Amino acid sequence: MNKFTIEESTPQHANPLLLNRRHWLKAATGVIAAVSSLRAQSEVAVSLPLQLSINENPFGPSAKAIDAMQQTMARSYRYPHAQAQQLIDAISKKENVPTDHILLGVGSGEILLAAGRYFGEKKGEVIAAVPGYTQLIDAMKSAGGSAVLVPVNDQWQHDLDAMATKISEKTSCIYLCNPNNPTATVCDTAKLTAFVIEAAKKVPVFIDEAYLECADDFAERTLVGLVTAGHDVIVSRTFSKIYGLAGLRIGYAVAKPSLLAPIKELMTGNPNLLGMVAAHASLLDHDYCERTRLQIKAGRDAVNSVLQQLGRKFTASQTNFVFFHTGIPIDRFQELMKKEQIHVARPFPPMLDWCRITIGLPDEMKLINQALRKILS
Ligand SMILES: Cc1ncc(COP(=O)(O)O)c(C=O)c1O
Repeated sequence: MNKFTIEESTPQHANPLLLNRRHWLKAATGVIAAVSSLRAQSEVAVSLPLQLSINENPFGPSAKAIDAMQQTMARSYRYPHAQAQQLIDAISKKENVPTDHILLGVGSGEILLAAGRYFGEKKGEVIAAVPGYTQLIDAMKSAGGSAVLVPVNDQWQHDLDAMATKISEKTSCIYLCNPNNPTATVCDTAKLTAFVIEAAKKVPVFIDEAYLECADDFAERTLVGLVTAGHDVIVSRTFSKIYGLAGLRIGYAVAKPSLLAPIKELMTGNPNLLGMVAAHASLLDHDYCERTRLQIKAGRDAVNSVLQQLGRKFTASQTNFVFFHTGIPIDRFQELMKKEQIHVARPFPPMLDWCRITIGLPDEMKLINQALRKILS
């Protein structure tokens, strides 16, 4: 249990039973903002077991996002049409694309699933890296398509040269995840751009940039510019990672309207009011994004230095997780970590003696590093 709970810390005068709704909301806003800033300062006691298997961002959400949700909660009886438009306007400004080039999703996962279904119904192939993120690929397969999986190269990056050789008349789309999950690596931007421009002349290219803002020089790495330049490219982004809003389920895609339209037709969800106001406020909170990126990087550097001391191979992570060689079958390693109260990610074939672990809060990182020393020494 966290040592800091709302019940324990709510001042006596803020007893909800004694206050009207407006005062209670105001008091609750203060408490929740305090929890958030405490999380950011890592004064929250570690809560065991550590859930470090699904790449959540424990530094989030930003206090401004929480404040925006608090301000909006009482209006939850309204449909969120205006807030959807405001969020689209803000994304359009951020990405420098027209508003009709933006599609909101219930997480970027909803967009990946719909895109997978759309391309799968064409009964063709998706070319993708292995190991990689499989949401679009799995959806494509269940809709009747198939996958051509290209192993990552010796730097655990997408092997773009090998992928280029796989494009054929059977290809329906190419899926690239940059930075890649689970290998955590980025592609060289110039090489990736050249590959995508060529490939998109033949088939649409889907670029999943879920972890982009965790990368050191993320602003230069996005391929949204290729959309504006008119290429057949779909870029997806999410508020689940750097913005720490995974539970609110908001993501978006950027592409030309003719590419977005058939994907949109297959989507059934609607992003919710609180998620959209939180996402909008997060976009405007530049300090938070930068601070969180640096906190994640500090956690990453700490694990990498332990792995280096232990003589283990690890990839050049540009994400909120690290991927490293255990030398132990991953099933066994998962069990050993579980005994230390730490949940790490599932196996990622064919790299079955490698492990993916998410960056946690600084106190959590101390426990991770202790466990790694104990198991891998
Ligand atoms: C590479 C990648 N893309 C997309 C997603 C989907 O995230 P969400 O649906 O929360 O936006 C994830 C989730 O972990 C991911 O790792």
